[in-house]
Amino acid sequence: MLQIISKKRFLKDLLEDFVDIHCHILPGIDDGSKSVDESIILIKKMKQLGIKQFIATPHIMQDFYPNDDLSIGNAYQNLIANLTSKKLNNTVINPSAEYMMDHHFENLVKQNHIFPLKENYVLVEMSYFQPPINLQEIIHAMLMKDYIPVLAHPERYSYYQNKKEFYKTLKQYGCLFQLNLLSLSDHYGKSIQKIVMYLLEENLIDFVATDVHNENHVNKLSDLILTKNQKSLLPQIIETTKKTFLVS
Ligand SMILES: [Fe+2]
Repeated sequence: MLQIISKKRFLKDLLEDFVDIHCHILPGIDDGSKSVDESIILIKKMKQLGIKQFIATPHIMQDFYPNDDLSIGNAYQNLIANLTSKKLNNTVINPSAEYMMDHHFENLVKQNHIFPLKENYVLVEMSYFQPPINLQEIIHAMLMKDYIPVLAHPERYSYYQNKKEFYKTLKQYGCLFQLNLLSLSDHYGKSIQKIVMYLLEENLIDFVATDVHNENHVNKLSDLILTKNQKSLLPQIIETTKKTFLVS
Protein backbone atom coordinates (compact mmCIF):
# COMPACT_ATOMS: atom_id res chain seq x y z
CA MET A 1 0.00 0.00 0.00
CA LEU A 2 2.75 2.42 1.00
CA GLN A 3 4.55 1.70 -2.24
CA ILE A 4 1.49 2.60 -4.28
CA ILE A 5 1.15 5.94 -2.50
CA SER A 6 4.81 6.82 -2.97
CA LYS A 7 4.52 6.24 -6.72
CA LYS A 8 1.96 9.01 -7.10
CA ARG A 9 3.30 12.13 -8.73
CA PHE A 10 1.70 15.06 -6.95
CA LEU A 11 2.01 18.48 -8.56
CA LYS A 12 2.55 20.05 -5.13
CA ASP A 13 5.78 18.07 -4.73
CA LEU A 14 7.25 20.26 -7.48
CA LEU A 15 6.10 23.59 -6.04
CA GLU A 16 8.59 24.17 -3.24
CA ASP A 17 9.51 27.87 -2.98
CA PHE A 18 7.40 28.66 -6.02
CA VAL A 19 6.30 32.16 -6.99
CA ASP A 20 2.73 32.36 -8.23
CA ILE A 21 2.59 34.97 -11.00
CA HIS A 22 -1.17 34.78 -11.64
CA CYS A 23 -3.79 34.61 -8.88
CA HIS A 24 -6.92 36.46 -7.84
CA ILE A 25 -6.19 36.90 -4.14
CA LEU A 26 -6.89 40.63 -3.76
CA PRO A 27 -10.21 40.96 -1.93
CA GLY A 28 -13.42 42.19 -3.48
CA ILE A 29 -12.37 43.64 -6.83
CA ASP A 30 -12.95 40.86 -9.36
CA ASP A 31 -14.30 37.30 -9.56
CA GLY A 32 -11.62 36.04 -7.17
CA SER A 33 -11.48 36.40 -3.39
CA LYS A 34 -14.53 38.17 -1.99
CA SER A 35 -13.11 39.34 1.34
CA VAL A 36 -9.89 39.79 3.30
CA ASP A 37 -10.76 36.66 5.30
CA GLU A 38 -11.11 34.62 2.13
CA SER A 39 -7.80 36.01 0.82
CA ILE A 40 -6.07 34.97 4.04
CA ILE A 41 -7.47 31.44 3.76
CA LEU A 42 -6.32 31.22 0.13
CA ILE A 43 -2.82 32.47 0.94
CA LYS A 44 -2.43 30.09 3.88
CA LYS A 45 -3.56 27.12 1.81
CA MET A 46 -1.36 28.11 -1.12
CA LYS A 47 1.63 28.39 1.20
CA GLN A 48 0.95 24.80 2.23
CA LEU A 49 1.43 23.85 -1.43
CA GLY A 50 4.91 25.36 -1.27
CA ILE A 51 4.18 28.75 -2.78
CA LYS A 52 6.25 31.39 -1.03
CA GLN A 53 5.68 34.53 -3.09
CA PHE A 54 2.61 35.89 -4.83
CA ILE A 55 1.99 38.35 -7.62
CA ALA A 56 -1.67 39.29 -7.27
CA THR A 57 -3.30 39.78 -10.67
CA PRO A 58 -6.89 41.09 -10.51
CA HIS A 59 -8.65 41.41 -13.85
CA ILE A 60 -8.60 44.77 -15.58
CA MET A 61 -11.43 44.35 -18.04
CA GLN A 62 -13.25 47.48 -19.11
CA ASP A 63 -16.71 45.88 -19.42
CA PHE A 64 -16.75 43.77 -16.24
CA TYR A 65 -13.94 44.70 -13.85
CA PRO A 66 -12.86 48.27 -14.55
CA ASN A 67 -10.04 48.18 -12.01
CA ASP A 68 -7.41 50.90 -11.86
CA ASP A 69 -4.55 52.12 -9.63
CA LEU A 70 -6.98 53.15 -6.94
CA SER A 71 -9.10 50.00 -6.69
CA ILE A 72 -6.08 47.69 -6.90
CA GLY A 73 -4.03 49.86 -4.53
CA ASN A 74 -6.83 49.93 -1.95
CA ALA A 75 -7.49 46.18 -2.10
CA TYR A 76 -3.76 45.51 -1.85
CA GLN A 77 -3.29 47.81 1.15
CA ASN A 78 -6.33 46.31 2.82
CA LEU A 79 -4.87 42.82 2.48
CA ILE A 80 -1.33 43.78 3.48
CA ALA A 81 -2.61 45.57 6.60
CA ASN A 82 -4.15 42.30 7.77
CA LEU A 83 -1.20 39.98 7.11
CA THR A 84 0.63 40.58 10.39
CA SER A 85 -2.35 39.81 12.62
CA LYS A 86 -2.87 36.59 10.68
CA LYS A 87 0.76 35.53 11.21
CA LEU A 88 1.60 36.03 7.56
CA ASN A 89 3.95 39.00 8.00
CA ASN A 90 6.83 37.38 6.09
CA THR A 91 4.69 36.73 3.01
CA VAL A 92 5.78 38.54 -0.14
CA ILE A 93 2.82 39.74 -2.18
CA ASN A 94 3.20 42.22 -5.01
CA PRO A 95 0.33 43.82 -6.91
CA SER A 96 -0.03 43.58 -10.67
CA ALA A 97 -2.96 42.84 -13.00
CA GLU A 98 -4.30 40.52 -15.67
CA TYR A 99 -5.22 42.75 -18.60
CA MET A 100 -7.95 41.92 -21.05
CA MET A 101 -6.63 42.96 -24.46
CA ASP A 102 -9.47 45.39 -25.12
CA HIS A 103 -9.61 48.98 -26.32
CA HIS A 104 -9.01 50.30 -22.80
CA PHE A 105 -5.84 48.23 -22.57
CA GLU A 106 -4.59 49.65 -25.87
CA ASN A 107 -4.93 53.12 -24.38
CA LEU A 108 -3.11 52.12 -21.20
CA VAL A 109 -0.23 50.79 -23.29
CA LYS A 110 -0.11 54.04 -25.26
CA GLN A 111 0.06 55.97 -21.98
CA ASN A 112 2.65 53.61 -20.44
CA HIS A 113 0.18 53.12 -17.62
CA ILE A 114 0.70 49.45 -16.90
CA PHE A 115 1.32 47.37 -13.77
CA PRO A 116 3.81 44.75 -14.94
CA LEU A 117 4.26 41.41 -13.19
CA LYS A 118 7.90 42.29 -12.76
CA GLU A 119 10.22 44.41 -14.88
CA ASN A 120 8.60 44.51 -18.35
CA TYR A 121 6.51 41.35 -18.18
CA VAL A 122 2.79 42.08 -18.60
CA LEU A 123 0.07 39.48 -18.06
CA VAL A 124 -2.62 39.65 -20.77
CA GLU A 125 -5.69 37.61 -21.62
CA MET A 126 -8.25 37.38 -24.42
CA SER A 127 -11.95 36.64 -24.52
CA TYR A 128 -12.84 32.94 -24.45
CA PHE A 129 -15.19 33.52 -27.41
CA GLN A 130 -12.91 35.15 -29.93
CA PRO A 131 -9.48 36.74 -30.13
CA PRO A 132 -9.23 40.53 -30.62
CA ILE A 133 -9.47 41.36 -34.33
CA ASN A 134 -6.29 43.40 -34.04
CA LEU A 135 -4.39 40.92 -31.87
CA GLN A 136 -1.15 41.22 -33.77
CA GLU A 137 -1.37 45.01 -33.64
CA ILE A 138 -1.86 45.00 -29.85
CA ILE A 139 1.11 42.72 -29.34
CA HIS A 140 3.19 44.89 -31.63
CA ALA A 141 2.19 48.04 -29.73
CA MET A 142 3.27 46.39 -26.47
CA LEU A 143 6.62 45.35 -27.89
CA MET A 144 7.19 48.86 -29.24
CA LYS A 145 6.88 50.10 -25.64
CA ASP A 146 9.30 47.40 -24.49
CA TYR A 147 6.59 45.45 -22.71
CA ILE A 148 6.84 41.66 -22.88
CA PRO A 149 3.37 40.13 -23.33
CA VAL A 150 2.76 37.05 -21.20
CA LEU A 151 -0.42 35.43 -22.49
CA ALA A 152 -2.40 33.89 -19.63
CA HIS A 153 -3.69 30.34 -20.12
CA PRO A 154 -3.21 30.00 -23.92
CA GLU A 155 -4.67 26.50 -23.59
CA ARG A 156 -8.08 27.90 -22.61
CA TYR A 157 -8.77 29.68 -25.92
CA SER A 158 -10.58 26.74 -27.47
CA TYR A 159 -11.01 28.53 -30.83
CA TYR A 160 -7.38 27.53 -31.44
CA GLN A 161 -8.14 23.89 -30.70
CA ASN A 162 -8.30 22.98 -34.40
CA LYS A 163 -5.54 25.33 -35.49
CA LYS A 164 -2.86 24.62 -32.96
CA GLU A 165 -0.15 25.77 -35.34
CA PHE A 166 -1.36 29.31 -34.66
CA TYR A 167 0.21 29.07 -31.21
CA LYS A 168 3.59 29.04 -32.92
CA THR A 169 2.63 32.15 -34.89
CA LEU A 170 1.62 33.86 -31.64
CA LYS A 171 4.99 33.08 -30.16
CA GLN A 172 6.67 34.41 -33.28
CA TYR A 173 4.73 37.66 -32.75
CA GLY A 174 6.62 37.91 -29.44
CA CYS A 175 4.17 36.54 -26.90
CA LEU A 176 5.27 34.39 -23.99
CA PHE A 177 2.86 31.74 -22.68
CA GLN A 178 1.70 31.11 -19.10
CA LEU A 179 -0.01 27.76 -18.54
CA ASN A 180 -2.59 27.31 -15.77
CA LEU A 181 -1.54 24.45 -13.52
CA LEU A 182 -5.17 23.33 -13.19
CA SER A 183 -5.25 22.75 -16.95
CA LEU A 184 -3.00 19.75 -16.31
CA SER A 185 -6.09 18.09 -14.82
CA ASP A 186 -9.53 17.89 -16.41
CA HIS A 187 -10.67 20.95 -14.45
CA TYR A 188 -11.36 22.99 -17.60
CA GLY A 189 -12.25 19.94 -19.70
CA LYS A 190 -10.57 17.13 -21.56
CA SER A 191 -10.13 19.10 -24.78
CA ILE A 192 -8.13 21.72 -22.89
CA GLN A 193 -5.95 18.97 -21.45
CA LYS A 194 -5.16 17.86 -25.00
CA ILE A 195 -4.08 21.35 -26.00
CA VAL A 196 -1.86 21.42 -22.92
CA MET A 197 -0.03 18.30 -24.03
CA TYR A 198 0.52 19.83 -27.47
CA LEU A 199 1.88 23.06 -25.96
CA LEU A 200 4.14 21.22 -23.53
CA GLU A 201 5.48 18.77 -26.06
CA GLU A 202 6.19 21.56 -28.55
CA ASN A 203 8.05 23.48 -25.80
CA LEU A 204 5.77 26.48 -26.20
CA ILE A 205 5.12 27.13 -22.50
CA ASP A 206 7.35 29.66 -20.74
CA PHE A 207 5.77 29.95 -17.28
CA VAL A 208 3.17 28.27 -15.07
CA ALA A 209 0.83 29.77 -12.47
CA THR A 210 -2.25 28.84 -10.44
CA ASP A 211 -4.87 31.41 -11.54
CA VAL A 212 -6.51 30.66 -8.19
CA HIS A 213 -9.89 32.38 -7.72
CA ASN A 214 -11.29 30.39 -4.76
CA GLU A 215 -10.66 27.63 -2.26
CA ASN A 216 -11.94 24.94 -4.60
CA HIS A 217 -9.11 25.76 -6.99
CA VAL A 218 -6.49 25.38 -4.24
CA ASN A 219 -8.00 22.07 -3.11
CA LYS A 220 -7.87 20.74 -6.65
CA LEU A 221 -4.25 21.85 -7.03
CA SER A 222 -3.42 20.12 -3.78
CA ASP A 223 -4.88 16.83 -5.04
CA LEU A 224 -3.54 17.11 -8.59
CA ILE A 225 -1.58 14.07 -9.71
CA LEU A 226 0.63 14.41 -12.79
CA THR A 227 1.06 11.99 -15.64
CA LYS A 228 4.55 10.69 -16.25
CA ASN A 229 4.88 12.95 -19.26
CA GLN A 230 3.75 16.04 -17.37
CA LYS A 231 6.15 15.24 -14.56
CA SER A 232 9.10 15.16 -16.89
CA LEU A 233 8.16 18.34 -18.78
CA LEU A 234 7.12 20.58 -15.88
CA PRO A 235 10.19 21.02 -13.65
CA GLN A 236 12.09 23.08 -16.21
CA ILE A 237 9.15 25.47 -16.67
CA ILE A 238 8.70 25.79 -12.92
CA GLU A 239 12.40 26.65 -12.60
CA THR A 240 12.18 29.29 -15.34
CA THR A 241 9.16 30.83 -13.61
CA LYS A 242 11.04 30.99 -10.31
CA LYS A 243 14.22 32.31 -11.89
CA THR A 244 12.33 35.06 -13.71
CA PHE A 245 9.94 36.20 -10.98
CA LEU A 246 11.18 35.37 -7.46
CA VAL A 247 12.31 38.46 -5.60
CA SER A 248 14.96 38.26 -2.89
FE1 LIG B 1 -6.85 34.95 -14.19
